[in-house]
Amino acid sequence: MKILVTGGAGYIGSTAVSILLDRGFDVNVIDDCSTGYAASVDSRATFFQKSILEPAALDYALQGCDAVMHFAAKSLVGESVVKPEIYWETNAYGSRLLLNAMRRNGVEKLVFSSTAATYGDSKENPITENSATSPTNPYGASKLAVDYMISAQSTAYGLSAASLRYFNVAGALKTENGWLAEKHNPETHLIPNLLRSTPESPMKIFGTDWPTPDGTCIRDYIHVVDLIEAHIKALENLTPGRHEIINLGSGGGYSVKEVLAAAEKVLGRSIPAIATDRRAGDPAVLVADISKARAVLGWQPERSLQSMVSDAWESF
Ligand code: UFG
Repeated sequence: MKILVTGGAGYIGSTAVSILLDRGFDVNVIDDCSTGYAASVDSRATFFQKSILEPAALDYALQGCDAVMHFAAKSLVGESVVKPEIYWETNAYGSRLLLNAMRRNGVEKLVFSSTAATYGDSKENPITENSATSPTNPYGASKLAVDYMISAQSTAYGLSAASLRYFNVAGALKTENGWLAEKHNPETHLIPNLLRSTPESPMKIFGTDWPTPDGTCIRDYIHVVDLIEAHIKALENLTPGRHEIINLGSGGGYSVKEVLAAAEKVLGRSIPAIATDRRAGDPAVLVADISKARAVLGWQPERSLQSMVSDAWESF
């Protein structure tokens, strides 16, 4: 089976490419390397360094493919507020062009990288797939728009699809050619930031007055390898004309202070940290209900917070 992986040079996409190849899938990759790295693309894949905004490039990359895993996207919440047009163009319009190209080329299976940001500041925790969607930024809104596009495509044209709504992805994958890891610039995520913390530039804890037991925000962290395992199971479980929406997290939450303590344990030393004001747009608690992933995919996360932090640390 041949899979087109869009965004296969990024953190999550390149991890998917490597694992798919190890499992015996053939893989094409399309990525313009605007945020990804050509060096992260496994050399066993056929790589098109092109944008998903180019229909001709999509046609070319889709040749011989049976399915698509669609990761290519802009994914910084803060940036999406100040430059929303990029998010609508790449995430929404780019996905529209991909759906058109899939139809033109007779490719009828899709696994889409969606996000918990579609739920916004949820009233319900844990969050189920039936919880209300009310994104609080253009990033989440653009991804939700794609979920709607995919549903319509399944109803109208029989597309087999799954939208996987990620919570907080962390960790890294060791391959024969080194680590595939988070290399964002700028880096905004908690785990890489606290591993980089120094006495001169200590990591900031964004708010210690949240309505949580220790006053810091709670998130649901999932190892990137567990996340990709769920993608492969989703691909294997696609049904013609159906669009499944499935949350992917670990089903439990850790506060910022708990993640800091886990990282201190891995490093065997204390990590410099200072409390600062809350970060704009952060909800207090985001935890996934993953019973649907367990039931529909027959999947469950295997890797602990400790292993997410230690893999991220080793990959540095
Ligand atoms: N945090 C800090 N200090 C930092 C970085 C983060 O205290 O230096 C805190 C944040 O306030 C938050 C938690 O750590 O409470 C996690 O923050 P991240 O930036 O690592 O992740 P987010 O929860 O903000 O965002 C993640 C994804 C988004 C996605 C969102 C969905 O990165 O793409 O989950 O809920 F939209």
